[in-house]
Amino acid sequence: MSKKKREDSFISDRSLQLEENRQKRKKLDKVVLEFANDFVNSISKSKAFHNKSHKKTKQDNLFEIEEKTLKLNEILDIIQQRVVNTGLNPASGGHLGYIPGGGLYSSSLGDYLAAVTNRYAGVFYASPGAVRMEDALINWCGKLIGYDDGFGGNITSGGSIANLIALSTAKKHHDINSKNISKSVIYCSQQAHHSIYKAINTVGLEECVIRQIPLDEEFRISTSNFKDQVEKDAKEGLNPFLLIGNAGSTDVGAIDPLKDLSTICKRHSIWFHVDAAYGGFFTLTEYGKDKLRDLKSADSVILDPHKGLFMPYGSGMVLIKDIHHLLKANNYSANYMQDAVKESHYSPADLSPELSKHFRGLRMWLPLKLYGPEVFSNYLEEKLKLTSYLHKKLLELGFTIVCEPALTIIAFRYNFNCLNNDLLNTALLNYILDDGRIFISSTVLNDKFTLRAAILSFRTHKREIDILIELLKFKLEDLTV
Ligand SMILES: Cc1ncc(COP(=O)(O)O)c(C=O)c1O
Repeated sequence: MSKKKREDSFISDRSLQLEENRQKRKKLDKVVLEFANDFVNSISKSKAFHNKSHKKTKQDNLFEIEEKTLKLNEILDIIQQRVVNTGLNPASGGHLGYIPGGGLYSSSLGDYLAAVTNRYAGVFYASPGAVRMEDALINWCGKLIGYDDGFGGNITSGGSIANLIALSTAKKHHDINSKNISKSVIYCSQQAHHSIYKAINTVGLEECVIRQIPLDEEFRISTSNFKDQVEKDAKEGLNPFLLIGNAGSTDVGAIDPLKDLSTICKRHSIWFHVDAAYGGFFTLTEYGKDKLRDLKSADSVILDPHKGLFMPYGSGMVLIKDIHHLLKANNYSANYMQDAVKESHYSPADLSPELSKHFRGLRMWLPLKLYGPEVFSNYLEEKLKLTSYLHKKLLELGFTIVCEPALTIIAFRYNFNCLNNDLLNTALLNYILDDGRIFISSTVLNDKFTLRAAILSFRTHKREIDILIELLKFKLEDLTV
């Protein structure tokens, strides 16, 4: 560095490398894009699950941050060996466990642009374009579930945080405080996702009376049980204020009787929250539109675009029927925000606990703009058809279907007619996990070990279902001789 230059700068040339020049960026882009494209090009041959890959290796020490730097190729090799080739591969069409995510390539490009342009998406004053884009997405989703004008929402990092925002809104609306909390009652399905209990805890509702309502034979909240319990509680001087239902439970995809539940809630001024993280986007299909027509009766609903819209992880959404409730729960101001407050447009920061936030809208908006909602609808229709196909094949193999699928989750087990039934079904699962081409998960239903397949990835087609059927058939023959 020349003496003159040194005097003009407070940073060394070496440190200035954080601002890569055009040539350097071109080089980096090429290597990273090649890596990403190799990943996508080989996805149909890649494993859905790397069983027994969780043991720490020497290479894992390279995750540690130190002054010694690595070349980009070396860095990508660590990512390939110790991230991509270990554990679950949610980008695979063979992922039929839990609730599959997606990983649309076009969505990752949206994320890339969001990161490079680094818009301040939490505040309208700072980024009117980003906020308008996210508003358009929230508007589209609200209309999809049948809400009339006047609703509000927020794009969150996932369903857990969306549930949390909905519950904090219900708490604020009903003014649950230290004086009334121990008499206030929350009702939920025995099949409520565990993020609901976390949210109850985080928003400070754990001292409420929490009642899990018994289910009917299809794992839906029993309306009569709920009604009787609310009436009993009200008579005893308690304060019933919140019901949490499911539109697509995690275990079996059950859809609670939304209309009847909402009628009871209205009668008793109970906030009705519906967790539609998994099921919500089936409203894009003809079948789902009908099945989920009463979602609009809920005071709040959550959806997970990283489930039903095939986004990469990090996309959830909360919708609140009356935006003022959401505003009341989240709107704060500060002196240093006075310039932003002048704008007459709500900001995501007014409607959620976040201030600075990832510009999540772009990863969702870009694929929707590129391909249009109908394409997403067609993919979801395919998942419904694949579920019917798998259902039929499982019955042919002699499996018991624990609950008729309302959407695209099938819970099933084989009755080996012996005391080791759970162990033998576990052996079926382990065989599939060891093979690795398909990933399914298990749960416990009616006190019995149960296998489950959830069909939601945009990359899951008939080929993957046929592999699952082959694997089950082969191991079943082995276990039943
Ligand atoms: C029904 C349901 N609700 C909420 C969640 C939590 O969502 P997330 O994992 O996006 O936080 C899940 C996750 O699978 C779910 O299935």
